[in-house]
Amino acid sequence: MNVNDVEIQPKILISYYTRSGNTEKLANQIKNLVGGDLFRIEVVNEYPPSYQEVLKVSKVEIDNQYKPPIKNYVENMDEYDIVFVGTPNWYSTMAPPVATFLSMHDLSEKTIIPFATHGGGGEARCLTDINEMSSQATVLEGIAIYGSQAETAKNKMLMWLKKLQIFSNSLRELND
Ligand SMILES: Cc1cc2nc3c(=O)[nH]c(=O)nc-3n(C[C@H](O)[C@H](O)[C@H](O)COP(=O)(O)O)c2cc1C
Repeated sequence: MNVNDVEIQPKILISYYTRSGNTEKLANQIKNLVGGDLFRIEVVNEYPPSYQEVLKVSKVEIDNQYKPPIKNYVENMDEYDIVFVGTPNWYSTMAPPVATFLSMHDLSEKTIIPFATHGGGGEARCLTDINEMSSQATVLEGIAIYGSQAETAKNKMLMWLKKLQIFSNSLRELND
């Protein structure tokens, strides 16, 4: 093999929390567009299935900046260069399990790319709060998509990733 043909590709992790599946749809689209490993953040104590109940429980968590324990941990985080961090908009910020995830991992040398889904309130503080919690990382421009449009957001996702110049690098990898 000619060493000049070898190009080092960034290693990508796509981490996300989802309760009702919307944010997971975006995570899957990112994977389809740029590759990478998916990591679904899972809580030890599941939130109640009832929407009204989860509104109550999560409000208390967010008001107290409580970080609920999560089941899983990325043992090999040092292998990743780019870490996408996905969250639903919960009370205008990230869902608490995402805050737990950010606080448990050393992301200081990483490029972080936040993404969010929402129910009409837009990105609110979701993306900037992820940015603030990742203060020693390089944080690129995120995206927020209306949850009910997550399925059909592929073009928006594509434009966003192209703008970040993630897409073109990885496209080469996909064509190899
Ligand atoms: C506890 C809770 C709080 C929410 N708060 C907001 C909010 O403040 N603004 C908003 O636009 N959507 C809000 N939503 C709607 C979710 O952001 C939206 O449905 C999202 O797409 C769900 O993502 P998921 O399917 O990945 O869990 C909230 C949903 C829940 C369960």
